[in-house]
Amino acid sequence: MASNGDIRVRNLSLYFRVRSGVVRAVDDVSFDLRRGRTMVILGESGCGKTSLSKAIIRLLPNNVQRYSGTVAIGDDDLMTYNDEEFRTSVRWQRMALVPQAAMNSLNPVVRVADQVAEPLLEHGVVGSHREALDRARNIFALVGLSPDFLDRYPFELSGGMRQRVVIAMSLVTSPELVVLDEPTSALDILTQANILNVLKSIKREFDTTFVLITHDVATSSELADDVAVMYAGQLVEKSDAERFFDEPLHPYSRLLMASVPTLRESKQLQFIPGQPPSLLDPPRGCRFADRCPKRFDRCSTEPPLISTDDGRQVKCWLYEAASDTGGNGRPLETEVTTEGGARG
Ligand SMILES: Nc1ncnc2c1ncn2[C@@H]1O[C@H](COP(=O)(O)OP(=O)(O)OP(=O)(O)O)[C@@H](O)[C@H]1O
Ligand SMILES: [Mg+2]
Repeated sequence: MASNGDIRVRNLSLYFRVRSGVVRAVDDVSFDLRRGRTMVILGESGCGKTSLSKAIIRLLPNNVQRYSGTVAIGDDDLMTYNDEEFRTSVRWQRMALVPQAAMNSLNPVVRVADQVAEPLLEHGVVGSHREALDRARNIFALVGLSPDFLDRYPFELSGGMRQRVVIAMSLVTSPELVVLDEPTSALDILTQANILNVLKSIKREFDTTFVLITHDVATSSELADDVAVMYAGQLVEKSDAERFFDEPLHPYSRLLMASVPTLRESKQLQFIPGQPPSLLDPPRGCRFADRCPKRFDRCSTEPPLISTDDGRQVKCWLYEAASDTGGNGRPLETEVTTEGGARG
């Protein structure tokens, strides 16, 4: 990882203190993301996706028990910055976050143009209010908002338009990394498609690196260059998108993919029995074992991330032999079946 602007995350952990103990929401997460690429993070509700976004951009609640690891852009390890330095020279300027449900947190009494312009003024990116509004106008065009909307208040805009406004806000300072947490999830299906198109065109226009968090597999397959699957606070699979959507490796990834409808093919949908474990006291071995149709003795100890020959990584013992023997990265049997798991 030499080239400038690549994102490097190493051993990132974010634990929360609660009355009954410690929630290990992000537990030793590492990944590399090359500049200009989009990495989608997939995973069920409660697996720690939002916590990971907060850990990357260091927006932490008060009850943090542990926050450790490395978040770097190029060779610049941002964890060496103190909070004040991070606030003044990293957040917004170099990385921005579109938080989950952001469109509902716009300030109701401030015109949207001023809200989009604010980060530019607050971080000294431009010198004057007029210049900031010019930039806001340009960024509005880019996210497909008519300049007529600049003077409106949030309540005068639809959900999809407000979502465009918050995406515009994240881009206006031209950060190197933008993290989008569920940017389409609260929207109806047509509006989702519109936002998806906005994101696609932004991806084409900019050299920005994106981390896109979603449980919407359809959205992710349209935008992803890389995929990471999160389960119970950990990344259990890292892959380029093409091979992932062609043939995911981890049994969890396979079930996740089998559980979502796609527009292109009709298939019998499956569901994943049970639910993710509590992050208060996660199981010692593989965290997915008790829901896994492929579990075997080995799963009572925690698998490492195993590299396959084709450069993917998967945290599952099924792939141990494949990597040891120089195999093709496939487990001994590839078909994941879900006894009694078929729906409809
Ligand atoms: N400030 C906090 N204090 C204590 N626990 C928290 C805090 N924030 C999140 N959690 C817990 O951390 C775990 C991961 O939550 P997180 O919101 O990161 O999941 P998620 O994958 O984003 O879920 P969703 O898909 O529903 O948005 C959950 O068990 C959640 O209850
Ligand atoms: Mg979330």
